[in-house]
Amino acid sequence: MSTKGNRDYRPAFHYAPPFGWINDPNGLTYENGVWHLFAQYYPDEPVWGPMHWCHATSSDLLNWQHHGVALAPDQLGTIFSGSAVIDKGNTSGLGHGVDPMILMYTSHGEHEQQSIAFSDDRMHFTPYEGNPVIANTAQKDFRDPKVLRNDKLNCWTVVIAAGDHVEFHASDDLIHWRKTGEFGAKENKLGGVFECPDLFPLTAPDGSTIWVLIASMALEEPFGGHRTQYFLGEFDGETFHETIPAQHARLLDAGYDNYAGVTFDNADRRMLIGWAMAWAYARHTPTNEFCGIMTYARELSLVETETGLQLASKPVTPEFDLREIPAQTPPSPLPRRYVASTVGELPEDLFHVRVEADEAFTLALSNEDGEVLNVSVSTEQKLVVDRVRAGKNDFSPIFDSGLFSVTTAQRTGRGKMTVDLYFDRMIAEVFMDDGTVCNTTLVFPEKPYSKATLWGKGKLWIGGMKE
Ligand code: FRU
Repeated sequence: MSTKGNRDYRPAFHYAPPFGWINDPNGLTYENGVWHLFAQYYPDEPVWGPMHWCHATSSDLLNWQHHGVALAPDQLGTIFSGSAVIDKGNTSGLGHGVDPMILMYTSHGEHEQQSIAFSDDRMHFTPYEGNPVIANTAQKDFRDPKVLRNDKLNCWTVVIAAGDHVEFHASDDLIHWRKTGEFGAKENKLGGVFECPDLFPLTAPDGSTIWVLIASMALEEPFGGHRTQYFLGEFDGETFHETIPAQHARLLDAGYDNYAGVTFDNADRRMLIGWAMAWAYARHTPTNEFCGIMTYARELSLVETETGLQLASKPVTPEFDLREIPAQTPPSPLPRRYVASTVGELPEDLFHVRVEADEAFTLALSNEDGEVLNVSVSTEQKLVVDRVRAGKNDFSPIFDSGLFSVTTAQRTGRGKMTVDLYFDRMIAEVFMDDGTVCNTTLVFPEKPYSKATLWGKGKLWIGGMKE
């Protein structure tokens, strides 16, 4: 039996390859109005295979143009995850009359080593003949280099995932590197190995500069799932120090479908894109000719909340025409929270739904076949996303398992709540408490959801795309 679906689940405004497999976003860079997105890519089949990088560009982070393979496996191995920078001043000497774009990636062969490639025109990428630039034979896991300009030491820094910690290396020319520090072996609260780290400064509400270290954690499958956690602290130019520890791991997203997220280099806003997928069931998802999509890009900021400083995500979405649905309260002896007070029709496959409420509620997105995606805020102040009956789920026992089907996050705010849900064919992205609580969840309804029902007291808005 084919495990694939009957519907075309291709989202309208989330990047997916025309054909083949993608996982992690790589080489995110912005330059002159163009957002560059590369990704882990297997062009021949919609399953993970010998890794390439594909390349796509966009002027608005919503409409993506796919340019095919940017980097292909070579004698050093397949091309694992990494990053890109614009080498201002041509410190590498690899530009020809222009500042080159430098891609730094992991050559995954017998060992994991770091390599670079360069480009004058941002469309053709040439591996450097002296690769690897950071050799390694000792460590099993040593990958996913994320390069940043280091203004403290006036050089480049790269953060590399190295098993139970991350390493920092510095360079003047992106070619010769020296190790400057390590972080994470003690501070990691989740276990597993580090993958796809990122490091950047943000301005806190009090005006101070806080460094954020993002780390995707590969946890024991199948029941750990993979998670992206973040640390808040300082970067002294050589290493990262966690100065604002938290009792529990801080998660970037409560859903399982946002992994390996990293941010764009060279942009004036801190924009993150993640792989909207979980390793545990990725290859079985029912999307036919392609496998894997990216999240909406999200602008990151720091927000002071009831539970301290938190990273907040604000998605870049199409413009929606949000309209309030008049409340309908049928007479009933039941308490109001058990009464469907408001029901609205949903535009097909692409919409924004907002709920404003003062108390617990459930928002149900449903179709005529009885498939339903439930998003609630419980009396315990938890945001709960429940896809148990949301659509096709028999393609993977893990997708269908309780752990992966119902995901929760504790609110960071109190009182009045605003929940924004953005939907694009197979992906729901939910945000509340200024984006400090978010949940990204894939669903595969066999027919488009046609109805939004708000169970409980509150206001319901529905928006289709603006004409
Ligand atoms: C994360 C990851 C990276 C690696 C890549 C391989 O999802 O495991 O650590 O570079 O995927 O495709």
